[in-house]
Amino acid sequence: MKQNYQLPDHGAERMRTGSAKRITFSMTDDLRHLGQGKTYFIRTYGCQANVRDSETLSGMLGMMGFIPASGPEDADLSIFNTCAVRRAAEEHVLGELGSLKPLKTKHPEKIFAVCGCMAQEESMARLIAEKCPQVDLLFGTHNLERFPQLLARTLSGERTIEVESDGAGSVVEGMPVSRSRRYKAFVNIMYGCDKFCTYCIVPYTRGKERSRRMQDVIAEIRAAKESGAREVTLLGQNVNAYGRDLGLADGFSELLREAAETGIERIRFYTSHPRDYRETTIDVMKEYPNVMPALHLPVQSGSDEILKRMNRGYTIGRYYELVDRMREKIPGITFTTDLIVGFPSETDAQFAETLELADRCQFDSAFTFVYSPREGTPAAAMEDDVPAEVKKERLAALNEKIGFYARRNNEAEVGKIRKVLCDGPSKKDPSVLCGYSEENRLVNFTGENIREGDIADVRITEARSFSLNGEAVR
Ligand code: SAH
Ligand code: SF4
Ligand code: F3S
Repeated sequence: MKQNYQLPDHGAERMRTGSAKRITFSMTDDLRHLGQGKTYFIRTYGCQANVRDSETLSGMLGMMGFIPASGPEDADLSIFNTCAVRRAAEEHVLGELGSLKPLKTKHPEKIFAVCGCMAQEESMARLIAEKCPQVDLLFGTHNLERFPQLLARTLSGERTIEVESDGAGSVVEGMPVSRSRRYKAFVNIMYGCDKFCTYCIVPYTRGKERSRRMQDVIAEIRAAKESGAREVTLLGQNVNAYGRDLGLADGFSELLREAAETGIERIRFYTSHPRDYRETTIDVMKEYPNVMPALHLPVQSGSDEILKRMNRGYTIGRYYELVDRMREKIPGITFTTDLIVGFPSETDAQFAETLELADRCQFDSAFTFVYSPREGTPAAAMEDDVPAEVKKERLAALNEKIGFYARRNNEAEVGKIRKVLCDGPSKKDPSVLCGYSEENRLVNFTGENIREGDIADVRITEARSFSLNGEAVR
């Protein structure tokens, strides 16, 4: 299978210069009938950036006349929007692609597409291009806007691979969106990441940090609000750096204020970075009650030495200071975080500092990960010298501590009345409703005449490890 395509190049990604191209999306008339009578299915892995990209793909497919199907068996077109952040995520996708082979043999007319962060990785793109003939279309995060044209090529019988990027990336406005929930909207405020934490693949798969113009972001929030959104989540790999590329000194605080001024009921943002946090942002969070008092603030490690080797750009002292100041200024604010164990050279003593951090910060919950080397990142060149067994033990010890505080914080909720945005019946038990409180705690509750998208006052009656039970009081 000889193909002409250019693979992504991680070395070049590090050298990127220049500013982002600004593009307005449009779709030519000949593409608008491409999906007539056809169905599609999208499986999304990874973070909210991918979830939002899948909503864009759904929007484009809708414009082309495709309608949704429930799985690859029923769909004419199946798209796998992939994540490359850890090896396990990739293995999952490769397994899934393998399991599609018999379906493709039986139904060669079905189209399988792979996109997202794995497509933007040199070795994965090569592997899929060369070893997965069941994949008809492979495109990267930088080629999202060209998806309709690429799909047209695929449908005309050409195996299509488009994974190159110019590093600086682009900012595309005017793309359609089909949101999975009317009352909750994800809104990108920026793309890419320039932080280059030494373990992380994201700056390579998502390109340079680049911001949308403030008026475009606010227009999207207003439009979402008009079509029924009650909660908006502002998305970026490091939202606190918003607007720097536009020459704004304190862009995120300004944007957050403007977003709050739209009057939308709930605003969240994701992800924050301790390095770029500004006092003015804390002030806006305090001033506007529609900015939710729940913060995801990844810390990664409790050891200054490890933080330095991770290139995180802050000390643990600075992290504590930030958390303390926010708790003081915004009473009731909750914190969640991300933690990595077993980073190269992490000693028992350094890991003990991470346990100490968990005691000190008493997070509501945390995503905990075992370090996974990512090809082409600086950490991958460090010796991965913490034995697998030790990594496993550290993860278990950390999870136990995180679980202890999660449960304890949940127990302190019993008896309180919280405002819960209802997501409809719980998946585990359809006889109860579920949703999230302002503090971002998952609440399962009973109540009459409450529909998806309603905000209910719920009395918390019971604490569980990772959720709360309650009953609606009105
Ligand atoms: N932009 C976000 C995080 C994106 S990735 C931030 O900076 O916080 C989500 C999380 O995955 C990270 O916070 C980190 O904890 C974890 N992660 C990233 N690369 C990893 C790797 N190579 N091994 C293990 N965990 C990793
Ligand atoms: Fe990865 Fe660090 Fe960027 Fe987050 S800030 S996406 S962890 S490089
Ligand atoms: Fe994964 Fe890409 Fe997000 S690597 S975590 S889907 S930015």
